[in-house]
Amino acid sequence: MSFKITVIHILFFVTLGVKVPRNFRLLEELEEGQKGEGDGTVSWGLEDDEDMTLTRWTGMIIGPARVSRQSSTNYENRIYSLKVECGPRYPETAPTVRFVTKISMNGINNSNGTVMSNRSIIPILAKWQNSYSIKIVLQELRRLMMSKENMKLPQPPEGQTYST
Ligand SMILES: *[C@@H]1O[C@H](CO)[C@@H](O)[C@H](O)[C@H]1NC(C)=O
Ligand SMILES: *[C@@H]1O[C@H](CO)[C@@H](O)[C@H](O)[C@H]1NC(C)=O
Ligand SMILES: *[C@@H]1O[C@H](CO)[C@@H](O)[C@H](O)[C@H]1NC(C)=O
Repeated sequence: MSFKITVIHILFFVTLGVKVPRNFRLLEELEEGQKGEGDGTVSWGLEDDEDMTLTRWTGMIIGPARVSRQSSTNYENRIYSLKVECGPRYPETAPTVRFVTKISMNGINNSNGTVMSNRSIIPILAKWQNSYSIKIVLQELRRLMMSKENMKLPQPPEGQTYST
């Protein structure tokens, strides 16, 4: 079924004359997201299945529990939703990434959840390469939750979201 959808999508984009490489890449990412590969700690998909431009995505990160046997993080088992926007020049330019679920973390604007791409704190966005993907961004944010600087930061009550 997903193969069929992919072919229809590609024909649609070719017809429109939309640059294909971006969409091939994003369709690959879509399929990978639908298959739910990996360990299930991050997931991603289109915000709206009908979004033919493949621009707006949602992401999910399950907060990492333990850094070591002794040491847990303050993100433990929380579920974080994010919005990821892949612009027309993706993957040459980084997506914009925003936490929907409130979080306290270095490099995240705490008034609206935006992951600040110009900060060296989030190098994956600051030094973006076209081989990176939505999955890698989510995995990297999850990894940063386990960093010394972030793991013990006091967190807002569970389940709150940014208003925008
Ligand atoms: C966070 O975002 C708000 C709203 O856009 C802005 O006013 C504020 O300056 C930002 N903070 C930082 C540290 O960039
Ligand atoms: C969030 O804040 C950043 C500044 O840190 C700003 O550039 C961005 O437009 C804001 N996003 C929203 C959705 O308000
Ligand atoms: C970083 O980017 C945000 C928007 O994402 C902007 O509001 C802020 O002023 C920038 N900070 C620096 C140091 O360039």
